[in-house]
Amino acid sequence: MDDLLDRPTTENAPAPVTTEPPTPGLGAELRGSSFDFLTQPGTDLAAKAQAFHAWAQHRTQHGVFPYGKRLGGRPGATAELTLLDGQRHAGLNFSSQEYLSLARHPQVCAAALMAMDRYGVHSAGSTALAGNVEETTALEAELGEHLRMPEVLLFPTGWAAGFGAIKGLVRETDHVIIDQLAHNCLHEGAKAATPHIHLHRHLDVNHVERLLQRVRRRDPHNGILVVTEGCFSMDADAPDLARLQALARAHGALLLADVAHDLGSLGASGGGQLELQGLLGQVDLVMGSFSKTFASNGGFVACHDRAIKEYLRFYAAPNTFSNALSPVQVAVVRACLRLVRSDEGAARRDRLMQAILALRSALGTHGIEVLGQPSPIVPVMLGPDALARVACREMGAAGLLANLVEYPAVSLNSARLRMQVMADHTPALCATAAHIVADALAKARGMTGLQ
Ligand SMILES: Cc1ncc(COP(=O)(O)O)c(C=O)c1O
Repeated sequence: MDDLLDRPTTENAPAPVTTEPPTPGLGAELRGSSFDFLTQPGTDLAAKAQAFHAWAQHRTQHGVFPYGKRLGGRPGATAELTLLDGQRHAGLNFSSQEYLSLARHPQVCAAALMAMDRYGVHSAGSTALAGNVEETTALEAELGEHLRMPEVLLFPTGWAAGFGAIKGLVRETDHVIIDQLAHNCLHEGAKAATPHIHLHRHLDVNHVERLLQRVRRRDPHNGILVVTEGCFSMDADAPDLARLQALARAHGALLLADVAHDLGSLGASGGGQLELQGLLGQVDLVMGSFSKTFASNGGFVACHDRAIKEYLRFYAAPNTFSNALSPVQVAVVRACLRLVRSDEGAARRDRLMQAILALRSALGTHGIEVLGQPSPIVPVMLGPDALARVACREMGAAGLLANLVEYPAVSLNSARLRMQVMADHTPALCATAAHIVADALAKARGMTGLQ
């Protein structure tokens, strides 16, 4: 098969590998991955679920299934989390996407209360019907101003925005050229929209160019959407957006950039990678999420063309057929956006960047590999999945809360700790966190014999 026309087969997975070579001496809790349970043959659907559940429970019993944790209070620089097995871990919190530490900001909370007072807590309809409140239009306009893109459409989540943007725009004869590491919502949107998906190597703009030339040569009659991210969520790196946009334009394609992690948290005025690359207002389509910097559920798609917005309103199913953002969520996002654009926002971004740099540098001092560029996501390479599971358990016990990312979310045996930094983290706290990571990794190496 033409490898350039391959469809993605897993979420965020660069190169699908279906079986992990067995490592002698490791228990079942340290072997296998959730991918194994996607490929099981058999007629009994419930049995497939039970097989996965038994594996996940076994991992939980051994303290190496660090998912589904529950917060015991606000997601601050320190927090308390309860694991699925009931164990409580309290400590330094690098597991929340609360980049500017706005979740308890007095202005944000006051805005939420005022909205609740006026509207109650329910939007009670989709944005296509009667789910918008007066302030929804104001939020769209303010966000458009911030992005220098006049048209903005809101979605109930960032995932829905990514999925909806692609499914809403791309018909089944059209093509999607997409970074192999793009977020799950973008791959799922592409899969739902068209069979003509062309994966490009991560950040490889030359590969995008070759694909554009090839697709245009073979099919001069249909549309092409190029899809990428501003800051990649597992690797914390960024593409050359200007080159991608120029290439898209030269080949009659549109570019969509997902700025979920960088909008608000990076750039002098909070314009994210678009601002850092001097491209505010110059990319065809931008989508993002409110769940990182903007202290709320929700997402958006921004564009320059009213017709595209109206088209998406009808053809992006999660916009049309899902309840709109609640009045409280709209008020929270507006309050956060005001802060993002203010001097206080700039000061918070400065504090955030100091913490990011302190964490990256402290980890480096311990000889630990950190991926990507300075951003609120600090991906810490742990290596083999089994080693990473044990290291993560030891970190939790030692008072560091951070999320484990393993195959198939990233390629096999390149498991990492995804540390998410916030403005309220101090450099001293970051140094302590790095120390805990180093200790836990050394301990896990001793326990597993893995490097
Ligand atoms: C790059 C990217 N896009 C979209 C999303 C989805 O955002 P939300 O949490 O608002 O659904 C995420 C969430 O983690 C993400 O990392």
